[in-house]
Amino acid sequence: MSVELARRVAAAVHAALDLPISPEQAQVRPSRAAGVDYQSNVAMSLARATGRDARDIAADLVARLDAADLVEPPTVTGPGFVNLVLTPGCLATSAAALLADPRLGVPPVEHPRRIAIDYSSPNVAKEMHVGHLRSTVLGDAISRMLRFAGHEVVPHNHIGDWGTPFGMLIEHLADEGLGDTPAPLQDLNAFYQEARKRFDAEPDFAARARRRVVLLQGGHQETLTLWRRLVDDSARHFEQVYALLGIALTPADVHGESFYNPFLADLVKQLSTKRLVTVSGGAICAFPEGFTNRDGDPQAMVVRKRGGGYGYAATDLATARYWIEERGADDLLYVVGAPQSQHFAMVFAVLRAAGWLTAGHHAEHIAFGSVLGEDGRTIRTRAGTSVKLVDLLVEAIDHAGRIAEHREGLTDAQRAEVARAVGIGAVKYADLSHDRRKDYAFAWDRMLAMDGNTAVYLQYANCRVHSLLRRAGSPLAASTPIHPTHPRERALLLTLLQFPAAFTAAVRDHAPHRLCTHLHATAAAFSAFYAACPVLSADTRSTRSSRLALSALTSRVLTLGLSLLGIEAPERI
Ligand code: ARG
Repeated sequence: MSVELARRVAAAVHAALDLPISPEQAQVRPSRAAGVDYQSNVAMSLARATGRDARDIAADLVARLDAADLVEPPTVTGPGFVNLVLTPGCLATSAAALLADPRLGVPPVEHPRRIAIDYSSPNVAKEMHVGHLRSTVLGDAISRMLRFAGHEVVPHNHIGDWGTPFGMLIEHLADEGLGDTPAPLQDLNAFYQEARKRFDAEPDFAARARRRVVLLQGGHQETLTLWRRLVDDSARHFEQVYALLGIALTPADVHGESFYNPFLADLVKQLSTKRLVTVSGGAICAFPEGFTNRDGDPQAMVVRKRGGGYGYAATDLATARYWIEERGADDLLYVVGAPQSQHFAMVFAVLRAAGWLTAGHHAEHIAFGSVLGEDGRTIRTRAGTSVKLVDLLVEAIDHAGRIAEHREGLTDAQRAEVARAVGIGAVKYADLSHDRRKDYAFAWDRMLAMDGNTAVYLQYANCRVHSLLRRAGSPLAASTPIHPTHPRERALLLTLLQFPAAFTAAVRDHAPHRLCTHLHATAAAFSAFYAACPVLSADTRSTRSSRLALSALTSRVLTLGLSLLGIEAPERI
């Protein structure tokens, strides 16, 4: 609704001042606090730009506004606010349209793009830790939102399955005779640490590990078999975590660093032909424009190391080229922690200079902050090691189990299902509801609070609607008229009508927290409505059915919204 109103206000500005502005610039916002439905601040901005009086501009604008089919005659208040109140007719038609629309008012994008999105991307032979939680959960939610918006989304899991650490890992595996045991490695972290310890303490082992790297890069059969073994065991571990989290990444989405090996030699050749690299200290480096180091000298990006090996940056250049040239991606998105910002900025600069990334493409590092412990420092176990993701998720389900424990009329299996949906939902939502660019602190009581901006608050509101609908008996017709009478009923409907705008803003900025904020506002508006307006015992039959339809719509918004975040919305908890 606000989108259409914004369009009309923009047109009025054009007519009144001969100034073309976008609907965005019309600044139409919901404004229940001002006692109206929507308000536009555009007159104040235009006053600053034109030097005219804001109230004059607002008056002109109102005179030119062609929106009698949507709003009552607008008023101007304060320094030049334009106040808009929807007509009962408009409210009823908008509600009917929302009720009949499976997409709840969100139009599919006009120009769908093919988007390659890199997320999760953990490292082989190391268990996923909480740091990988953010990439996985954010990447999954962003993918779901982009897909719902109408884009073609191709995820790829850029697992770290190549590089010098594999020398020591393979050598240790061979020494332990673990290469031919059928049982998978149980504790990947411990295995990694043992190999590391030997590498640091035993010069002979370290020398063998270095030779192993050369064998691996040279395609030595036995070495490759051992390497495969490590990769497969790790992949199985990742899949367990994804299954527990309900993440839609599959083995087919894995394109690890090793996948791009065959492309690296040609990459360097092309960069040399394009004169984008120089030899510096024996290494082949790119010096993308605009990047300097601490001394103010051009910052090097190593493409090929002195010994002939390729590094992280080379792989990322080849990765981007692969997704653009072989897979026809329009957009490249990377959901990776903020410390890698400089790396991606440099990669994008080289890709642009090489002409691989053109003006028609869009590449973006979707950066995020860290997960902190309750003490505000990087989250650690009591022993001081990094927290394993699996342990954290099991603990979440355990905490949530206490919520389900006392529910009556549930079987044990149903209780376990509820605990899982609530526990995993809590962890994911805690991550998604914070602005991803900032750090956030992990706190069980806060993320499982029944009355905060939490998943369980939304899940619970949704369950209340389901219980209401069950008690109401007969199913609702999709054409049930909604005609709000009580102010809280009106407020709830206006919030529901805001869903498309909130969703659109969240996809545009790759900002799931904006969707969370809106869903929380929706659940809160429902609670306020439910406390003030009797539904099943409403005065008249038409009020009863109108309120039931409004409740059903609330549940649809919450269920769709949660599913776009990758969170379950059970009918009972
Ligand atoms: N494996 C890396 C890490 O754990 C993240 C990889 C991100 N993706 C990329 N294309 N560089 O830090």
